Amino acid sequence: MAQANKKVCVTGAGGYLGSWVVKHLLSNNYIVHGTVRQPGDAKYAHLNQLEKASDNLKLFKADVLDYDSLCSSIAGCTGVFHVASPVPSSSVSNPQAALNPTLNFFVELIEPAVKGTLNVLKACLEANVKRVVVVSSGSAIFLNPRWPEGQIKDEACWSDKEYCAATNNWYCLSKTEAESEAFEFAKRSGLDVVSVCPTLILGPLMQSTINASSLVLIKILKEGYESQENRDRSIVDVRDVAQALLLAYEKPEAEGRYLCTAHRIKARDLSDKLRSMFPQYNYPKSFTDGGKEEKLSSEKLQRLGWSYRSLEETLVDSIESYRKAGILD
Ligand SMILES: NC(=O)c1ccc[n+]([C@@H]2O[C@H](COP(=O)([O-])OP(=O)(O)OC[C@H]3O[C@@H](n4cnc5c(N)ncnc54)[C@H](OP(=O)(O)O)[C@@H]3O)[C@@H](O)[C@H]2O)c1
Repeated sequence: MAQANKKVCVTGAGGYLGSWVVKHLLSNNYIVHGTVRQPGDAKYAHLNQLEKASDNLKLFKADVLDYDSLCSSIAGCTGVFHVASPVPSSSVSNPQAALNPTLNFFVELIEPAVKGTLNVLKACLEANVKRVVVVSSGSAIFLNPRWPEGQIKDEACWSDKEYCAATNNWYCLSKTEAESEAFEFAKRSGLDVVSVCPTLILGPLMQSTINASSLVLIKILKEGYESQENRDRSIVDVRDVAQALLLAYEKPEAEGRYLCTAHRIKARDLSDKLRSMFPQYNYPKSFTDGGKEEKLSSEKLQRLGWSYRSLEETLVDSIESYRKAGILD
């Protein structure tokens, strides 16, 4: 992709992944428009401290459900990285949930994910953006009970929306619906849309709040579970995801979806590995059977030039950042 105009927009700039994407873009000499929902909030302070931020980063107040705010943020940009989307931990709070359990998921997850993505894409079309990189998720790939057993899951596999809903996997549904709608929009409008589908993202925190995927690792270190399911974990480093997004944007040949995953490990093996490096933490005491192994492939992304760091580096750097933030005290 031509480098003449290097102004791009990142939605959800202050989140876990968004912050690393902004850092990566600034260090690659991009001018970045970052969207945040509460400008001035201390939780975004780290962004202004990034190298080159004072000259090349401008934050905009925008909610993905507010089309006009997106238009102002995206105006003048050649590319957009659509990172913003709600990522719940185990529960989604909304007092109406007790009355109608599907309503809160719709309001808090599905609508911002799906309508939010379509709003971003419409604003991109309006602003004549050349390419949009949409951050989807491995959860838009894996949840498909009809996928032949033993066959590698890659970009050809889509999560089954009805199955997601029937099994209450509302986050998976939100990401599957948002990504498939994004490609439908691209087909109708001619907008150049590429998606990246990361699996569980770990790696150092830049922001002061704890996001849902980092909490998975923090709980393994702190919670002292009596028993945990010995499930497959597919892990990728947040810095490698930021690199994947840049490749998906810059490589002219990039098209369609890209599964972004690096290391597959059983929960018990992950716990053992962590314990051997950091024996002082409160690890799960036992594991129950975790079901079938998933075979995944990020070969398509590797063909674009993507590579990833070791799992040990990701774990050591994650834990170092949690320690510095006082999260493990
Ligand atoms: N972490 C993972 O393991 C993982 C794996 C696969 C895919 N992903 C995807 O990666 C993206 C970033 O996730 P993350 O892990 O970085 O989570 P995060 O730290 O919770 O970030 C989520 C971001 O979305 C923004 N957001 C949520 N609702 C919004 C709305 N209505 N309008 C505008 N912004 C909104 C938040 O903005 P505020 O800062 O204003 O709250 C925040 O910046 C998401 O699309 C997620 O689905 C994450």
